[in-house]
Amino acid sequence: MLKNIAIFASGAGSNFKNIKTSIDNGNINGTIVLLISNNPNCGAVIFARRYKINCEIINDYRYKNIKEKDTQYKLVLDSYKTDLILLAGFMKKIPLNLINDYKNKIINIHPSLLPKYGGSGYYGIKIHQSVIKNNETETGVTIHFVTENYDEGPVIMQRKIIVRIDDTPEILSKRVLQIEHKVYQLVVKAFCSNKITVNKNKVIINE
Ligand code: GRF
Repeated sequence: MLKNIAIFASGAGSNFKNIKTSIDNGNINGTIVLLISNNPNCGAVIFARRYKINCEIINDYRYKNIKEKDTQYKLVLDSYKTDLILLAGFMKKIPLNLINDYKNKIINIHPSLLPKYGGSGYYGIKIHQSVIKNNETETGVTIHFVTENYDEGPVIMQRKIIVRIDDTPEILSKRVLQIEHKVYQLVVKAFCSNKITVNKNKVIINE
């Protein structure tokens, strides 16, 4: 059975596009049923509209009441029979009701070696600026399940890269993003083939 995938994105959407390409190439046993975004003008939404992917905008303008907004996520996701939620540059906190209802079915990608440079305040270029400022010799990518606290859920996969002497935050961010595109599709492929299990917060990827 194909897994129904919902993407959550707020920005350029390069990870979203990459996953779609991987699906279109037949690498992943899934289909993107929905994009949820808080930002109607972002690259991810423009891309979804161009490729006729269903798009739902959920933000404070449309839903003044928090409870109504949190319920809307669930209503929409359930209506598409969502099996997997992929956060791909989503800038809003995931409501607790979703974290509970979709336990171990929400995955995030983060451009650092968590727990380093994770949590509130560490996003976008700020992460790479801090890595360089602190003279780190390595950085990388973490893909993890989403729990109540930012960037703290069980780690599914990490990839390291060396920080080069001539890296700027901008160059580093591009190099890390290239790795993101490689590893996110591997994790999604494994999940959609039922190869990922979680036991007492430890993730096992079965061969
Ligand atoms: C990526 O660096 C991802 O790790 C982080 O947000 C960024 C999104 O980039 N969570 P894009 O919109 O997928 O290009």
